[in-house]
Amino acid sequence: MAAERARLGAQPLPRAVEEALRAVPREAFLPGLPLTEAYDPHQAVVTRRDEERGVALSSVSAPTIVATMLERADLRPGHRVLEVGSGGYNAALIRRLVGVDGQVVSIDIDPEVVTRAERCLKSIGVDDVHLAVGDGAHGFAARAPFDRIIVTAGAWDLPPAWEQQLAEDGVLVVPMRIRGLTRCLTLRRAPEEGCWEAVAVDMCGFVRMRGRDEHWEAMPCLHDEDGCQVALRLEDGPEVEEKALREALACEPVTVWSNVEVGAEEPTDSQDLYLASVADRWAQLTAERGAIKAGLVSPISRLGTPALISAEGTGFAYRTLRRCPGRADRWEFGAVGHGPHARATAEHLAHLIGEWDRDHRRGPGPRITLFPATTPDDRLPGGRVVDKRHTRTVLTWTITP
Ligand SMILES: C[S@@+](CC[C@H](N)C(=O)[O-])C[C@H]1O[C@@H](n2cnc3c(N)ncnc32)[C@H](O)[C@@H]1O
Repeated sequence: MAAERARLGAQPLPRAVEEALRAVPREAFLPGLPLTEAYDPHQAVVTRRDEERGVALSSVSAPTIVATMLERADLRPGHRVLEVGSGGYNAALIRRLVGVDGQVVSIDIDPEVVTRAERCLKSIGVDDVHLAVGDGAHGFAARAPFDRIIVTAGAWDLPPAWEQQLAEDGVLVVPMRIRGLTRCLTLRRAPEEGCWEAVAVDMCGFVRMRGRDEHWEAMPCLHDEDGCQVALRLEDGPEVEEKALREALACEPVTVWSNVEVGAEEPTDSQDLYLASVADRWAQLTAERGAIKAGLVSPISRLGTPALISAEGTGFAYRTLRRCPGRADRWEFGAVGHGPHARATAEHLAHLIGEWDRDHRRGPGPRITLFPATTPDDRLPGGRVVDKRHTRTVLTWTITP
């Protein structure tokens, strides 16, 4: 893990977190799995799956994100912690960090996950994590207040219970979907502004939160041949006409290059957030392997490539990459447009990529604040406002010279 963080340019882990990671045997939560797989730093191991939908329901989270979230939570001996989403491994680590004077409650919506977690915790002699079955969107009032709430499922909104059950100076660590992009937000209250402020924003991927606050984006399918599916994910995005977009995919594409280059190892997650912030008609393209192989689309990622719907709603453009001539380690971003206004839509996307490169690439990323849903517009800072059931999330970008 230390070598992995050094490679990513991250600071060494706090000593207490490293000590906990060394002490808790991850393999006890993944019986039967080879150690190399159990300790793969980036690999979450799926333990329950919804076969019909083809989505993971539960997993033992990847070591790198577990470590990052523990670091962000800044756990201290004696803390009272609520973990939303169980598995046992993370709870055992938290237990170790808060010590005998602390308290850990871990709640999962799935009774089988709780039974499994209990069994695994017992196998390493941990019997004082309070495991509960229930919808974590309601928190766990019986043991509140908590000094820390650590959510280990992908949330779409901030339920009021978390606010009510978190101590005044508490920290909430939560993977949150914002316009379809999941980022792990470390949130603290900013009482003078009446909002939550993200004091850290980390890349992550998590299984979706189910239950009361479950949320699914619209996913118009553009090509539905088995193994070759192409779809657009529209998180609070524009209304579209599926038929027109299907026809657009069948049209000859137009590719526009941006002159913005990137190194193979350079993180560009802030570009995705920037595009999601500034594009009104924002979407993400998903594609199965077969669709890419067959040359239907050429996105950067199969699971969610930044895309725009054209102003007329009859076409779209998505981001692509090409290797820079003569440079094995450099790539150039481009945009592939489809539909009657393919070139204009692709040019618009390439232009936004250029803006990100010029003004934000070397910057700290956006300021992310979350306000109660009742907050009027004139009390919000400038930026992209994303409205949800309980909150108004604002992404504010400041130009970096
Ligand atoms: C990634 S797993 C948790 C990983 C775990 N913390 C570990 O130690 O590796 C996410 C869990 O969240 C649970 N979950 C989903 N929606 C939930 C909800 N509304 N309340 C509580 N748990 C939920 C799932 O059942 C799943 O077990």
